[in-house]
Amino acid sequence: MATSLEVRGLTVELPTPGGWVRPVNEVSFTLGEGETLGIVGESGSGKTMLSLALMGLEPHGARHAGEAWLSLRGAGNGDGGKNGGARNAARANLLTISQNEMRALRGREIAMIFQEPMTALNPVLRIGAQVEEAIRVHEPRAAESEIQRRALQALQRAALSDPARRARQYPHQLSGGLRQRVMIAMALAAGPGVLIADEPTTALDVTVQKQILELLAKLRRELQLSMLFITHDLGVVAQVAGRIAVMYAGRIVEEGPVAEVLRAPRHPYTEGLLRAAPRLTREKLVPIPGTVPSLDALPPGCAFAPRCPHRVAECDAAAPELRAVNKNHEARCILVR
Ligand SMILES: Nc1ncnc2c1ncn2[C@@H]1O[C@H](COP(=O)(O)OP(=O)(O)OP(=O)(O)O)[C@@H](O)[C@H]1O
Ligand code: SF4
Ligand SMILES: [Mg+2]
Repeated sequence: MATSLEVRGLTVELPTPGGWVRPVNEVSFTLGEGETLGIVGESGSGKTMLSLALMGLEPHGARHAGEAWLSLRGAGNGDGGKNGGARNAARANLLTISQNEMRALRGREIAMIFQEPMTALNPVLRIGAQVEEAIRVHEPRAAESEIQRRALQALQRAALSDPARRARQYPHQLSGGLRQRVMIAMALAAGPGVLIADEPTTALDVTVQKQILELLAKLRRELQLSMLFITHDLGVVAQVAGRIAVMYAGRIVEEGPVAEVLRAPRHPYTEGLLRAAPRLTREKLVPIPGTVPSLDALPPGCAFAPRCPHRVAECDAAAPELRAVNKNHEARCILVR
C-alpha cells in the first residue's frame, strides 16, 4: 500500500506561565493510501492539537519538531527540492514548508472537518458562498459560473438534498447533521487526498451520526481518501477504521489493527477505555479511575501509572518506549515483553 502521510516524532510545545508543555509528544504513524486510521483518547489527550499541527494551524506561539510527509496528488507541485528538502514534486513536509506553501496545500491536498461545525462556519455568510470560497482559494482564475457549479456539485456529493436551495441558506437555518454535511462538502471541495475528521459525529444524535458515518465511508471509497478519524468513541472506530492509535497525555500508547487492538488490547489504558465503552463491553461498565494528568505535572515515568491497576516500581523509573506486540501492533507498556 502506498503511503499518504508519514509522521515521525511529531512534538508540539505550547508556552504557559509555568514553562513549555507538550500536548503532542513524539507521535509517529503511517497512513496508507485509502486507509482510515482511528485516533482515540480521552479529552485533552492531544488529538485536536495533532491535527492542527498537520494543517499548519497551531495556536499562536506554538513550536514543533519532527516530520510529517504528505504525498501530493496534484501534478507539478514541486520546486525540485530547492527549499532545503521541505518539498518536492511527490511529497511535502508539512512541518517545514512555508506558510504560503501550506496555504496552497490546505484544502487541495489535506483537509480537515473541525470538531465544532458551528464555529468553523461563518454565521453571516450563505452556505454556497462559503463552499465557493473553499474552491476559489485554489482556482483564482476560474470563472464564477464554474466555481458555482463546482460548489453545488460539492454540496450534492455530501448528499444535501436540494443543494441550490441550501446554498442560499445561512448556517443557523440548518440542523446539526446538515451543517456537518456542509463541512464535509467544504473540506472535499478542492479534491484533497487526505481528510482529517475531528470528532465529526460527536455532537449529533445516533441516527444522524450513522448517516454521517455512512456518507464518509462512501466518499472515502469514491474519492479514494486516506482518513485520520478522531473520536473518543471506540464503537465508532470499530466501524470506520482499519487501524487504531490510542493517545494518552500527548503520546501514542498503543497502535495496531483495529479488530486486534479491540479484541486483545495490550496497554492498560486501552483496556480501561474498552471496559468504559457502552457499545463494546457486555460486562458492567467500569470507568477508568482518576483523570488525565495535567501537562505541566506529568508523572516521571509512565504517564498512565497513577491510574493503572498493574503499576509496579519499574513503571515510575522512566517513560516506557513503544514495544512490539507483533509486526503490526505495539504498546507503550512494560508488560509487553
Ligand atoms: N491554546 C492552548 N494553550 C495551551 N494549552 C492548550 C491550548 N489548546 C489546547 N491546549 C491543551 O493541549 C492539550 C491537548 O488538547 P486537545 O484539544 O488536542 O485535546 P483533544 O484530545 O482534542 O481533546 P477533546 O477530546 O476534548 O477534543 C490539553 O491539555 C489542552 O488543555
Ligand atoms: S508501564 Fe506500568 S503503569 Fe504504565 S501502563 Fe504499563 S503497567 Fe501500567
Ligand atoms: Mg479535540
